[in-house]
Amino acid sequence: MNGRPALQPLPEDVHTAADYAAHAQRTLDPMAWAYFDATAGDGSASRANRAAWDALKLLPRMLQSLPGLHTECQLLGRSWPTPLLVAPMALQRLAHPDGELAMALAAAAQGAGMVLSCEASLPLETVARAMLGDAARGPLWLQLYPMHDRGVTLDLVRRAEAAGYEALVLTVDAGVRAQRDAERRAGFRLPVGISAVNLPPPGSAVPMGLAERLARAPTWDDVAWLQQQTRLPVLLKGILHPLDAREALRLQVAGLIVSNHGGRTLAAAAATAQALPAIADTVGGAIPLLVDGGIREGADVLRALALGADAVLVGRTVLWALAAAGAAGAAHALRLLRDELALTMAQCGIATPQAAQASLLAR
Ligand code: FNR
Repeated sequence: MNGRPALQPLPEDVHTAADYAAHAQRTLDPMAWAYFDATAGDGSASRANRAAWDALKLLPRMLQSLPGLHTECQLLGRSWPTPLLVAPMALQRLAHPDGELAMALAAAAQGAGMVLSCEASLPLETVARAMLGDAARGPLWLQLYPMHDRGVTLDLVRRAEAAGYEALVLTVDAGVRAQRDAERRAGFRLPVGISAVNLPPPGSAVPMGLAERLARAPTWDDVAWLQQQTRLPVLLKGILHPLDAREALRLQVAGLIVSNHGGRTLAAAAATAQALPAIADTVGGAIPLLVDGGIREGADVLRALALGADAVLVGRTVLWALAAAGAAGAAHALRLLRDELALTMAQCGIATPQAAQASLLAR
């Protein structure tokens, strides 16, 4: 695909970002829907994510003077208009023909960041070129999985550096892949013409047993190795345990993303809102802390900030909007989240994201 995607009209009945889910389900073919919506096992980690945000009730402060209220976020030496980034999600051309290009343009237009998956369906250079020229954009990061073939990782790192990516996100929670029931039931197969174009084509791999998979599964050595290969900051995504946060600090990683992969890896995993406070305590503000999983409305972003996050990643909420209305839809969903965050902050007497503290939450 070349050039800028044409803007589609927005559906008239979308009032919150979450309203896009029903549109996406109607728009997507059942196999693509099954792939995007799939969770590990029966979906309990994904439901737990949502339930944990819902359970956090805010204690608003009244009568505060809030001139200059803003949602600006500062991380890794940059500031951008809103503490939102699009989470890395594979194969976005399955959701919409404009795929990751539309997503990056939407993020840039709304002052949000973009984390491109290494399993993206468009070249990482194409996505970078589209986003980097926008002065009001958020950061552009590339997500990697620790791969058995370090040569493949190194090639991606060099390409990311050359293309202008500003950080690498190493996802560490999928070393042993989950079985996703909905995906298997739908008999998910990639359609012709859509693939993870930044990676070498998958060979006709013989399925491995658990022992073989464990022998190849990544360890902390892979984190240290990646840090040695690049001057880009390396963040870890998929941390839930405070002891892992401590190890990450010891290795001087640049930031942590508390995540359970949107409930797509370990079905019995803790909700991210449950895991975040202990990790925030361990990190103690020493490095940036981000969180994802079940972020559906602006109040969820404020809840995450109050628990100690500096910013949040948005996954399926913005993916549904991309599926329903391309770049315009994804931009609209991010705008709704951004405006709801500002409104909720105003209602709670909070003038800046940094001012959101644990005292904002009812115990
Ligand atoms: C993902 N996620 C993911 N994470 C990652 O590090 N690399 C990847 O390639 C993908 N791919 C991917 C595909 C799809 C379809 C989904 C839904 C998710 C996980 C993603 O980055 C994020 O952690 C979750 O999506 C957050 O949860 P919510 O917002 O979707 O509930």
